[in-house]
Amino acid sequence: MQVTAKFLLPLALGHLVEAFPRRDLTSATVTVDTTVKYQEVDGFGCSQAFQRAEDIFGKYGLPPVNQTFVLNLLFDKTIGAGFTILRNGIGSSNSSASNYMNSIEPFSPGSPSARPKYVWDGYDSAQFSLAEKAYSRGLSSLYANAWSAPGYMKTNLDENKGGYLCGVTGTSCPSGNWMQAYANYLVQYIRFYKQSGVEVTHLGFLNEPQLAPSYASMLSNGTQAADFIRVLSRTVKKAGLNVKLTCCDGMGWDLQAEMMPELQAGPDPAINHLSVITGHGYESAPTFELDTEVKVWESEWADLTGQFTPYTFFENGTEGEGLTWARRIQVAFTDANVSAFLYWIGAENSTTNSGLINMINNEVIPSKRFWAFAQFSKFVRPGARRVLSSSSQSAITTSAFVNTDGVVAAQLINNGTEPYNFKVAIQGIRKGSHVRPYLTDNDNDLSPLPVLAIQNGREFIGSIPARSMLSLVSAK
Ligand SMILES: *[C@@H]1O[C@H](CO)[C@@H](O)[C@H](O)[C@H]1NC(C)=O
Ligand SMILES: *[C@@H]1O[C@H](CO)[C@@H](O)[C@H](O)[C@H]1NC(C)=O
Ligand SMILES: *[C@@H]1O[C@H](CO)[C@@H](O)[C@H](O)[C@H]1NC(C)=O
Ligand SMILES: *[C@@H]1O[C@H](CO)[C@@H](O)[C@H](O)[C@H]1NC(C)=O
Ligand SMILES: *[C@@H]1O[C@H](CO)[C@@H](O)[C@H](O)[C@H]1NC(C)=O
Ligand SMILES: *[C@@H]1O[C@H](CO)[C@@H](O)[C@H](O)[C@H]1NC(C)=O
Ligand SMILES: *[C@@H]1O[C@H](CO)[C@@H](O)[C@H](O)[C@H]1NC(C)=O
Repeated sequence: MQVTAKFLLPLALGHLVEAFPRRDLTSATVTVDTTVKYQEVDGFGCSQAFQRAEDIFGKYGLPPVNQTFVLNLLFDKTIGAGFTILRNGIGSSNSSASNYMNSIEPFSPGSPSARPKYVWDGYDSAQFSLAEKAYSRGLSSLYANAWSAPGYMKTNLDENKGGYLCGVTGTSCPSGNWMQAYANYLVQYIRFYKQSGVEVTHLGFLNEPQLAPSYASMLSNGTQAADFIRVLSRTVKKAGLNVKLTCCDGMGWDLQAEMMPELQAGPDPAINHLSVITGHGYESAPTFELDTEVKVWESEWADLTGQFTPYTFFENGTEGEGLTWARRIQVAFTDANVSAFLYWIGAENSTTNSGLINMINNEVIPSKRFWAFAQFSKFVRPGARRVLSSSSQSAITTSAFVNTDGVVAAQLINNGTEPYNFKVAIQGIRKGSHVRPYLTDNDNDLSPLPVLAIQNGREFIGSIPARSMLSLVSAK
């Protein structure tokens, strides 16, 4: 349990750290104004789709004590990152072979109007059990997201390799129009969860609709997505569910942007039926605002390059490093005004960077990417509002949030080669507050440092190491 020990007792490990100012350093002036409010935060999260939930529950032999440890790292806000969003995959497969996610209607009932043959195993590739455990630790949003409709509902008669949903613009299937059947099917998935005691809060019916890979996938352009959104919205309302609809998990930010005009077009714009626009960070990063009034989530992104860098916060700025992700999260909130930021996999039995936590044999390794997420997610809770922040030094980038309980969390990232002093002025902070800095760098994983006292009524002075991230969190 070395990680836990380090997390709880950073000062006992020999590298005594604090964030008091030093005389020899250049100073950055950071301004936070909690009275200038931007988007509302829904949270941070990950997925355990394609049977990665099974990894957490010991598919490869992880002992129960370590299973609990991983669950706490992901979803407990005292012990771990306190993720509040879990993205479950709605399976389209006819079995659980390989890493398939099994479907609630694995085989065709014969035609779109035939009585569907639903089956519910109360397990959902371990994602159901995971959702229960996550909720018990404080989850607030369960995002159910289909990668594809079952193959028999599609133009290519295959859940894999793209293909379109039969019935959307430009399709014509011998078996007929499956749009209503697919909407009923998605509603039934939510009902099964509900009957078994778990609330699905968000529903998406597409994943990366620009791609036709060898795994579960379904193509769609904006027009076709809009066709189905109208059907789905009507069906969800009729079923009396208050699940929030999302679209379209575009595989990059620019590709999601391309789908926006069609979602806004026509006498009954599809966007009016949506609560969240979802986009991924691959191929094009969330660095700009999408043209919409509804909330926006960055709902999947990861380092898929293969180089394994679990312990590196900064070495040379490559894809898997913690600092890279700290900054990607920050930019998504400040420049793309997202309300949520999700990595791809939370924890998996692998030696790649596609998860935040690696499980290798019995070993649990939270990567520096994980700690970068935790620097935000532990202190920026659902319902928080992003607020105005800025820095006088370009090496120091900032973001800031005020939580519903008034707690202010400001994030300072120093990607410079030198440490800096900082003077943070926080407009609107509660009188008598102090701030506690938390540090992640190559030597620290969210280490709590001694508090910084208030100066001149509203200023906190301290220092930030080179290539590091500090979260300043207010308390009485
Ligand atoms: C099950 O799905 C696979 C594709 O994932 C397909 O090749 C196979 O024919 C299906 N089996 C049945 C019995 O439908
Ligand atoms: C989407 O594809 C359909 C079918 O090919 C086509 O009719 C429609 O114009 C396309 N929409 C856009 C925005 O390209
Ligand atoms: C970055 O550093 C890692 C070691 O952490 C090394 O393996 C890798 O080759 C370096 N990459 C570049 C582009 O310098
Ligand atoms: C941090 O600085 C290095 C150069 O020292 C650069 O390669 C890297 O891209 C920067 N990282 C971020 C997140 O800006
Ligand atoms: C997004 O955030 C920027 C500041 O970072 C702000 O200027 C802009 O108005 C925000 N957009 C919306 C729609 O709130
Ligand atoms: C997954 O777990 C098994 C059993 O502990 C182990 O042998 C294997 O090396 C692990 N795989 C990876 C990629 O870590
Ligand atoms: C995982 O469990 C083993 C014993 O079952 C233990 O030795 C190890 O410290 C645990 N690892 C973590 C990270 O908790």
